[in-house]
Amino acid sequence: MNTPPSDVSRVTCVGAGVIGGGWVAHFLARGYDVTAWDPAPDAPEKLRRLVDAAWPSLTRLGLAEGASPDRLRFAATLEEACAEAQFVQESAPEKLELKRGLLAELDAATPEGVVIASSTSGYPMTDMQTEAAHPERLLVGHPFNPPYLIPLVEVVGGERTDRSAVEWASRFYEAAGKSVITMERELPGFIANRLQEALWREALHMVANGEATVQEIDDSITEGPGLRWAFMGPCLTFALAGGEGGMGHMLDHFGPSLKSPWTRLEAPELDRALRDAMVAGCEEAAAGRSIADLVAERDRGVIDVLRATGRLPGEASA
Ligand SMILES: NC(=O)c1ccc[n+]([C@@H]2O[C@H](COP(=O)([O-])OP(=O)(O)OC[C@H]3O[C@@H](n4cnc5c(N)ncnc54)[C@H](O)[C@@H]3O)[C@@H](O)[C@H]2O)c1
Repeated sequence: MNTPPSDVSRVTCVGAGVIGGGWVAHFLARGYDVTAWDPAPDAPEKLRRLVDAAWPSLTRLGLAEGASPDRLRFAATLEEACAEAQFVQESAPEKLELKRGLLAELDAATPEGVVIASSTSGYPMTDMQTEAAHPERLLVGHPFNPPYLIPLVEVVGGERTDRSAVEWASRFYEAAGKSVITMERELPGFIANRLQEALWREALHMVANGEATVQEIDDSITEGPGLRWAFMGPCLTFALAGGEGGMGHMLDHFGPSLKSPWTRLEAPELDRALRDAMVAGCEEAAAGRSIADLVAERDRGVIDVLRATGRLPGEASA
């Protein structure tokens, strides 16, 4: 790979929606020169709004030396965006055919040896790298929303990805301030989305059946297990549920009953009624707060949790 991971200074973000825009904000805050490209006519204004809304949170977190929202350039074409890239992050819509074609175009437009990562939420790179001339430098770098605040990136290559590209990307993301899990094997949805989707599937079943409201489902997490998950994962958390006997006692004690909620492993049909019930439930739960209000509230909350758990650079936990 051309540039050592910690020497990268120019990154390109292709697709500048919720996630691509979030990547742009993250890289700007970490002091990179960022070039963005997105085919939507209103993309430059939307991107500027997203970066402006994120900047107060990023400032609160601490900007890298020289970081500035003015170091963002919006390219006129995909080719121009990639011509001088030292790293490319693709965040286009989650459609397999689109990703296949776009990754091939990015591969053709990007200098040799430069790593290209996809933000895909679930497609294995093996299925997306089929049309590219240099599949060895294509890999998944899966972020979490918003990428400028949530540290995790899951990095995984496809069957035709070179191991050195995966290692380069993991080191690059770390240099860019992310927390990296480098996966050895491809798995649809990677790790965290498989876990999130299990919860989400159950939430949809409960709303579809009228068993719980959107508000109750959200409260059950924010007032319950969610508080623990911010600093201790579900496995160690359950080990503590076994008292002094730890995970062994937990499994021996609750083992048979663990299966009783496993009655609905298929997702419910996402029909119009369920869609509308989810939308109405979320509007009720938002209680008059706009999306922009909720984004600001979420960003404040994530920063507070990171600070309280000693995960902000240069800050120890109280
Ligand atoms: N939203 C999330 O929470 C989340 C989290 C992690 C990963 N992702 C992944 O990130 C990617 C982007 O999702 P999003 O939520 O930002 O979607 P989005 O709809 O907000 O943004 C997609 C952007 O891609 C642009 N676009 C359309 N066609 C394009 C093309 N051919 N080339 C480049 N850009 C194009 C659109 O104009 C839009 O701005 C998806 O792969 C998604 O699975 C999303």
